[in-house]
Amino acid sequence: MTTNRPRVFVTRLIASEAINRLREEDVVLDLWDDDLPPPPETLRMRASDADALICLLTDRIDESLLDAAPGVRVISNMAAGTDNVDLATATARGIPVGNTPGVLTESTADFTLALLLAAGRRVIEADRYVRDEQWKTWGPRVLLGKDLYGATLGIIGFGAIGQAVAKRARGFDANILYTRRSDAPPPEGLRSAKRVSLPDLLERSDFVSIHVPLTTATRHMLGERQFASMQEGSILVNTARGAVIDQPTLASALAADPPRPAFAALDVTQVEPIPTDDPLLRLPNLVLAPHIASAGETTRRAMANLAVDNLLAGLRGERMPNCANPKVYA
Ligand code: DGY
Repeated sequence: MTTNRPRVFVTRLIASEAINRLREEDVVLDLWDDDLPPPPETLRMRASDADALICLLTDRIDESLLDAAPGVRVISNMAAGTDNVDLATATARGIPVGNTPGVLTESTADFTLALLLAAGRRVIEADRYVRDEQWKTWGPRVLLGKDLYGATLGIIGFGAIGQAVAKRARGFDANILYTRRSDAPPPEGLRSAKRVSLPDLLERSDFVSIHVPLTTATRHMLGERQFASMQEGSILVNTARGAVIDQPTLASALAADPPRPAFAALDVTQVEPIPTDDPLLRLPNLVLAPHIASAGETTRRAMANLAVDNLLAGLRGERMPNCANPKVYA
């Protein structure tokens, strides 16, 4: 039976509140409810007769996918980043692409602080030390770490998340350096933060945290030369996108003597999940997390709801609350 109701393909089980909202709408819902993403061929097939997609950063929405899905007129990506979507092709085809910034800022900043502190104060190693029965006594030289308190924190990318990290770090009396394309003054409350060049930031910071989106300009922006310029003992945290870092080069930098950076904490890697033979996995001076910086319960619900808001606005032909390619409305 044919229907005029728009067909919406949702590529994963997102918050049930958001799914229920879709069920109440006049749409045909096609839900991929596996824990793993649909394989590329399945994504292609299920998208082929869809009018709209709610997709995730694990789904590659490129030109060839869009060629195979000519009916798609709305894309709603449940992520702030849109590097998985070919925005230029979507724009050229008049397809608005929604994304979900804003609602994940605070969760992501919280988790960044968790990594900065875990890396600086060796929390993961400490846990292993206790479980491995190495804890014999209180020791004046045991597991010495680096304080965030009073340190210099370099923030690469001073958008909403970078600023939210800076706000938290001010509570630790950290000195904030940042890079940003815009020369707008830092906001109220962060007036003492200093905008510097990337080389300057890397040379002067005890901790460096990455908060730029992945674009052609930021891909591999940190490589051999940048690592070599970092301070001895410095700590690098990445909760943005793995490919902002040249990852094999980071593995060599962490394995060098002395390592620069001395320690890294990565929530994101160039390939996700990180392949089991990746040299990073053999290094002791590294903490990894499986891309969970935004994984606060309420945050993920808010992201799913915003993805639905974007989708429904798109289907109604209205401007999306958060559109990643606003040129589409020009
Ligand atoms: C994003 O939204 O881009 C994060 O990487 C996942 O929440």
